[in-house]
Amino acid sequence: MELSNNEKRMLKALQSRAGDSWSLDELLAACGWDDQVHVAGAGLALAENELVEIQETKVTIWSLGPEGAAADENGLLEQGVWDWLEQQPEDARGMKDLLASYVTSIQETGVAVGLLKGLGCSLEKGAFVLPEPTDVAIVTLVARKSFIEQCANGVHEADLDAELLSHFRKRKGLIESTDGTTRVWSLTDAGRKLDEGGLEERLEVVHITPELLQGEEWRDADFKPYDVELDAPVPAGGRPHPMMALIERIRSIFLEMGFDEIEGDFVQTAGWNMDALFIPQDHPAREMQDTFYLTNPEKIEIAQNFLDDWTAIHERGGETGSTGWGGSFSGEESQKGLLRTHTTVNTIQYLAETPDVPCRVFGIGRVFRKETIDRTHLPEFHQIEGIIMEPGASLPMLVTTLKTFYEKMGYPEVRVRPAYFPYTEPSLEVEVKWRGQWLELGGAGIFRPEVTEPLGCEWPVCAWGMGLERLAMLVLGLDDIRQLYISDLEWLRNQPLL
Ligand code: PHE
Repeated sequence: MELSNNEKRMLKALQSRAGDSWSLDELLAACGWDDQVHVAGAGLALAENELVEIQETKVTIWSLGPEGAAADENGLLEQGVWDWLEQQPEDARGMKDLLASYVTSIQETGVAVGLLKGLGCSLEKGAFVLPEPTDVAIVTLVARKSFIEQCANGVHEADLDAELLSHFRKRKGLIESTDGTTRVWSLTDAGRKLDEGGLEERLEVVHITPELLQGEEWRDADFKPYDVELDAPVPAGGRPHPMMALIERIRSIFLEMGFDEIEGDFVQTAGWNMDALFIPQDHPAREMQDTFYLTNPEKIEIAQNFLDDWTAIHERGGETGSTGWGGSFSGEESQKGLLRTHTTVNTIQYLAETPDVPCRVFGIGRVFRKETIDRTHLPEFHQIEGIIMEPGASLPMLVTTLKTFYEKMGYPEVRVRPAYFPYTEPSLEVEVKWRGQWLELGGAGIFRPEVTEPLGCEWPVCAWGMGLERLAMLVLGLDDIRQLYISDLEWLRNQPLL
């Protein structure tokens, strides 16, 4: 068994009175220490080696409260009024005289009168009368004073007079208690028997310094081993916000799956955000209460050929064989400025630009909807959008792509369910299993001919749009979406690396 110097020193001290129990103060004195951590530390180590036994007793320690500290310095209130009373001429011992004196404050007067009565004084015709004889009161005053002095440095309840304690407990702010533990240390049999010769202290090196290495002493010294398992403070350095880290991870997954990244503007037209996607112009989601329409720019020009195509498609189905929505299409409506409500507006524009080049692209971007903020809704959030256009693009390809993505994110259980979007057929809802529950994370489908034909797309288009915050809630284990954006530093520091 390797004992440290402190342990050796403490053991030696204990062996000098091998049968005794030692208090903290005795051990500090015997070992020449001034800090109790040495006794606690060495004692614990010795106890772990079964050389020492520690006995703990729960104790209540009484010390002075704010009023008590004042009384310790200036005397107790009753002492003050008693002294005043003794010194006053008999005809000036009235209540009024007390009030006029500097002895008590107005607030204290009532208490002072009670205390005087407790000491045997009486109040006759408005004047205080001292008890006859006064010695009982004086003994009480002396006892109370010494009680306060006793408490000044903290005292075990057992060492206090019970009657005085119960008196002072009833008075406000004079004394207060804390619960503590006292320990005594004594040798076990093994501790008693341990050979004194082995208790020589050796130079123990904790810090290796150039000065130390210049001498010779270190050659014989013990080096304190490092304990690499000790708790250490966690350094709080800068790090990406969890949402940035998550976006980065999603980005690298799609890039790894062979997708290119696209970007798009927040400010869009109703035409590209909705009409191009065959969302009828009287669709409820287009109402003011769901969409942020802009006053500046209120109108954004759209090329006439697109307006013509959308008119034909919306009113009659164009060349697609569809019947369209009927009614009459408004180009004015199309050119209204708005904040994009989904990132599908960007993939559709990408297709419009290069309808004849096969592609696999994705984008992660912010979208805006007039939502009331609650546990699961924000008016600004992000979507993970993507399309695949190529010969043979199909529903199984779409589902496999999404499954692969979620699998790479760490969610291998994915299922799709039928859904409805005006711009896809068939349409899917994507769900992921999390803690035994299926959670809806996004929509997907194959773009309808009403969407792809006016743009001149050559091949089928798989499309999807998924919620980023929803996914973040799973990854970070949140049940309130707002947590992501309140910038609680403590929370941010404790988030896992993604
Ligand atoms: N745009 C849809 C949404 O905001 C998601 C979606 C994208 C659905 C592409 C089908 C195809 O929820």
